[in-house]
Amino acid sequence: MKVERTFLMVKPDGVARGLIGEVLSRIERKGLKIAALKMIRVSRDAAEKLYAVHRGKPFFEKLIDHVTSGPVVVAVVEGRNAVEAVRTLIGDTCSYKAKPGSIRGDFGLDVTMNIVHAADSEAVAGRELSIFFNDDEIFNYSRGCERWI
Ligand SMILES: Nc1ncnc2c1ncn2[C@@H]1O[C@H](COP(=O)(O)OP(=O)(O)OP(=O)(O)O)[C@@H](O)[C@H]1O
Ligand SMILES: [Mg+2]
Repeated sequence: MKVERTFLMVKPDGVARGLIGEVLSRIERKGLKIAALKMIRVSRDAAEKLYAVHRGKPFFEKLIDHVTSGPVVVAVVEGRNAVEAVRTLIGDTCSYKAKPGSIRGDFGLDVTMNIVHAADSEAVAGRELSIFFNDDEIFNYSRGCERWI
């Protein structure tokens, strides 16, 4: 098992519904560490970079409109197998299909408004977090409980 960093965003619907704490709490409860965190409004340019792989797909414009529609919370999450661990915590893209116990499974029904985004590989995570964070905004610190996780 390997320590990785991944990129997480609470989308505008998650922020508007008061789910910031719920999402971050599930990340922390799992044993993952928040290495960087901020609330921002995503520019169209940054949103198009984040979702560049989806350019040209039928849902692209709606997705960009949504993620730029209000404040979001962006985070860098660190831990062993963090990429896969966070993807498992968030659940299936279609919230109505996502398993109960996952964030999308517990809190949503929509596809575009599916509360959170998380990178799906370590390489993608590195690219995505660099859109939103400078190196000096990402912290290296240890927690006393780490050897138990
Ligand atoms: N068929 C669709 N209809 C509407 N929106 C969609 C559809 N497919 C994907 N999306 C939106 O585009 C986002 C990116 O799609 P992707 O296939 O990367 O899903 P994901 O990796 O589960 O989600 P994310 O990248 O946001 O973590 C989805 O989270 C969702 O908001
Ligand atoms: Mg994705």
